[in-house]
Amino acid sequence: MSAEKPQFDIGHQPNIQHQTFPGSQADLDPAPSVAHVPSPDGGYKLYQAAGKLKDKKALITGGDSGIGRSTAVLFAMEGADSFIAYLPEEQKDAEETKALVEKYGRKCFLYPTNLKEQGNCKKVVEEAVKQLGAINVLFNNHAYQMMTQDISEISEEQWLHTFDTNIHPFFFLSKYALPHMKKGDTIINNASVNAYIGRPDLLDYTSTKGAIVSFTRGLSNQFVGKGIRVNAVAPGPVWTPLIPSTMTDEAIKQFTSPMGRPGQPSEIATCVVFLASTDSSQISGQTIHCNGGVIVNG
Ligand SMILES: NC(=O)c1ccc[n+]([C@@H]2O[C@H](COP(=O)([O-])OP(=O)(O)OC[C@H]3O[C@@H](n4cnc5c(N)ncnc54)[C@H](O)[C@@H]3O)[C@@H](O)[C@H]2O)c1
Repeated sequence: MSAEKPQFDIGHQPNIQHQTFPGSQADLDPAPSVAHVPSPDGGYKLYQAAGKLKDKKALITGGDSGIGRSTAVLFAMEGADSFIAYLPEEQKDAEETKALVEKYGRKCFLYPTNLKEQGNCKKVVEEAVKQLGAINVLFNNHAYQMMTQDISEISEEQWLHTFDTNIHPFFFLSKYALPHMKKGDTIINNASVNAYIGRPDLLDYTSTKGAIVSFTRGLSNQFVGKGIRVNAVAPGPVWTPLIPSTMTDEAIKQFTSPMGRPGQPSEIATCVVFLASTDSSQISGQTIHCNGGVIVNG
């Protein structure tokens, strides 16, 4: 079956499986949906594009798999080229993303790197501007998480690693990209429902996601008057390589939402398309709660 198609019905739970972080979409069982979205008959249909991002240029971190891959593919369907950054171990997944983007007639530049290093964030932006010619959309999307039940189990090293991976690069990438961005361009940050529900077994990750929400609000207040909108998505459970590479059997068994199923990466990517396009022209500093129906405050 094509890597683009989900291999299960909308209500099906993922099978229990384990991968080593950062995981591989090629090995995910079942394969998640990249470009298919729910249809009124309860099945899936290919996402219908409408030229919403024609000739836009996007820098997407963690673009090799999961939500990042779906976003690159839906962006391509909407007419945008992408530059994707990802960990070097993800080369195979990244090449599949590139092939899918090219299938829709757009360009996809690949850049393996570790964004934990500040200097690499600078190089990513410089290379993206060189290859794409511009950055109209910055999707800060990559992340690290690892389950631990109690604060006593979180080493000082893990705490710092999670912050160094999840929030500091969002600041560096935005700082370096913004001088290249102009009125009408957008930044979208990937947060998580966990920032709102305070998930106890992902304390470090959850804390970085709270920081991302506040970073989104403050940065929006700096740039909204200049015509650059900054927003976030806060997904609930989504079937991606992050899950089997960081979560326990029990957590995978309970990996669901009030909708009775986890989300598909494509169902988050539609929200990113919305925030990147002028369909969301009145929205800045906000978070879209694409979380399967969890009611949250804020
Ligand atoms: N899957 C979920 O249930 C879920 C829920 C809420 C939020 N999110 C968020 O969605 C975003 C995308 O994750 P995903 O679920 O699509 O998983 P994923 O595993 O497909 O993507 C995560 C990506 O982050 C990249 N990455 C991690 N550390 C990096 C580093 N140091 N340098 C460069 N790249 C790095 C990896 O290469 C990988 O591509 C993350 O921010 C995650 O927190 C996911």
